[in-house]
Amino acid sequence: MLHENLPILITGGNGNIARLLAKRLLKDGHKITCFDISDPTPESTVDGVDYLKGDICDQPLIEKILKAASPKIVFHLASLLSGSSEADRKRAFQVNAQSTFNLLELALANGNPRIVFPGTGASYGSDIPPDVPEDQPQWPENIYGVTKIFNERLGAYYTMTHGMDFRCLRPPLVLSPYAPPAALTAYASHAYVAAAKGEPFVFPVSPDIGMSTIYIEDLVEGFVQLAYADRGQLSRHAYNLHAFCPSAQEIADSIVKLKPDFQYSFEPDSVVESLLKTAAKVFLDGSARQDWGWNPISDLDDCSKAIFKLME
Ligand SMILES: NC(=O)c1ccc[n+]([C@@H]2O[C@H](COP(=O)([O-])OP(=O)(O)OC[C@H]3O[C@@H](n4cnc5c(N)ncnc54)[C@H](O)[C@@H]3O)[C@@H](O)[C@H]2O)c1
Repeated sequence: MLHENLPILITGGNGNIARLLAKRLLKDGHKITCFDISDPTPESTVDGVDYLKGDICDQPLIEKILKAASPKIVFHLASLLSGSSEADRKRAFQVNAQSTFNLLELALANGNPRIVFPGTGASYGSDIPPDVPEDQPQWPENIYGVTKIFNERLGAYYTMTHGMDFRCLRPPLVLSPYAPPAALTAYASHAYVAAAKGEPFVFPVSPDIGMSTIYIEDLVEGFVQLAYADRGQLSRHAYNLHAFCPSAQEIADSIVKLKPDFQYSFEPDSVVESLLKTAAKVFLDGSARQDWGWNPISDLDDCSKAIFKLME
């Protein structure tokens, strides 16, 4: 039974997604170790979690941690995101790709834990239909996406040939109060944060622009559902996720319903706008729904209520 009292390791354990994932897994009684290159902040600290600091590229340290913690599941979230990857491609290769190869090799030799990994919807590139099929060819246009596909394929290879149990999901845009300030596509998340603080917000896109989106607590639940699923339930190595596709105007309207004083305007930024124009509107996610019960909030107003509640 994989659902309780397990040692679990989360790499990138101080991040936006990891802090909620740790909290969620603690509820099921697991023993959680979070590993990250940064120290946990007061906001990212979750009571009851063991925090370890270090670089995911430090192979001897990762081996030591795998031996000491003996995780049954590793959620491998440590990563440079798209902007920082493009700014330093060599480091992106080391952190995102080389370290995954090292981790999987070490995992095989140290108890062979189940590995759960986030790919990205951005791995499909821009030459895509509005509704992206699960088997759409992946031709990413940034180094971040290239490393994500490398990891997906590597995990599939170890699963097919070396008895590993590697599972991947590909999130679209994630609505979160903890979204990194510099992420170009995080403006929708930043609008909620501004509204909660009573600050005005400028959307860097036209009112009608939007892309495939999910709410962060649903993504966390997706990680948990995928991790807990019996291997026999899984028909794919990697799963698309999608919930809805709200436009910037719809997001602003939904915020105003809950924060009537919210002041906003639209000043399209050509870089953000061109990124969003080619982004997927829907990632077809029928396999996740069928195989392991992916069932996210698909009503924007419900999502807005949830995101403000998370910030209370
Ligand atoms: N948020 C999204 O929209 C989204 C979408 C698709 C995929 N993902 C993936 O989900 C994962 C988590 O994303 P997030 O939004 O929480 O990002 P995040 O930046 O908040 O978290 C990543 C964490 O990795 C840590 N890290 C970076 N380099 C490291 C290193 N060398 N050694 C150890 N730790 C290191 C960072 O300090 C950070 O805490 C990432 O793999 C990301 O690519 C996120």
